[in-house]
Amino acid sequence: MTSYSGRHAELYDLFYADKPYEVEAAFVAQCLREYAVGPTTRLLEIACGTGTHALQLEQRGYKIVATDYSPDMLARARQKAANSQVEFQLQDMTQLEVGGAPFDAAYCLFDAIGYVGTNEALEKVFRGVHKHLRRDGLFIFEFWHAAAMLRHYDPVRVRRWEQEDSTILRISETSLDYAKQLSSVCYSIYELKHDGTYSSFTETQTNRYFLVQEMAAWLTATGFAPLTWFAGFTNSESISDETWHIVAVARRS
Ligand SMILES: C[S@@+](CC[C@H](N)C(=O)[O-])C[C@H]1O[C@@H](n2cnc3c(N)ncnc32)[C@H](O)[C@@H]1O
Repeated sequence: MTSYSGRHAELYDLFYADKPYEVEAAFVAQCLREYAVGPTTRLLEIACGTGTHALQLEQRGYKIVATDYSPDMLARARQKAANSQVEFQLQDMTQLEVGGAPFDAAYCLFDAIGYVGTNEALEKVFRGVHKHLRRDGLFIFEFWHAAAMLRHYDPVRVRRWEQEDSTILRISETSLDYAKQLSSVCYSIYELKHDGTYSSFTETQTNRYFLVQEMAAWLTATGFAPLTWFAGFTNSESISDETWHIVAVARRS
């Protein structure tokens, strides 16, 4: 593992402070209510990061085991979960072995499924999730949409965060591997202290983008029925080349 560790894990919640986690968790809960067959209370989260969705869903009454392969992201999650019953576990999603299965539903958000870049690894993820779900259990996941990526990706983006004692600059440089459907984002992060000192680090993250029917084929090949596809965390928009994130709902057979 080469990413989501060290200082990047510490800064993660700052970088995504404006991400609407509460709205997203509410949308997942709504999908669970709408599409679940039978009582659905025990959830398995794949690639939970610093645990914000899990903590939000716990407040909605779910019991959650949340997994990630980054010890540093899990350490942040556990710090935030002092008053929570969410169980955080170190797990690589390509080799899931989580105690307490079968779960009623699983979810994997913020395009994390794309971090497994190859077909072989992706198949392991779907089969692993299938193994951990009860019959008719739901799998809800978000993935990066190829149509938007190919038409609109930004080769260079710069963002800035003002802190009490520093300014943080993040430069993101993206390149695409069209044959492998991979986007590599090189993040250069500069922490400019107000006392004139600075530190910096770089991290490259490689993530795969998909088309809907391709994802449907993966699901059916690994024992899931695709139920529906949303243009992000809303049911009021149709999927277009402006849709960067697709939320899939599938049922385990
Ligand atoms: C963009 S973050 C998303 C975190 C969280 N789902 C959220 O919405 O904030 C991607 C996460 O995927 C995790 N990840 C990447 N590859 C993984 C793998 N093979 N197994 C488990 N977690 C993985 C990273 O450690 C990171 O926490």
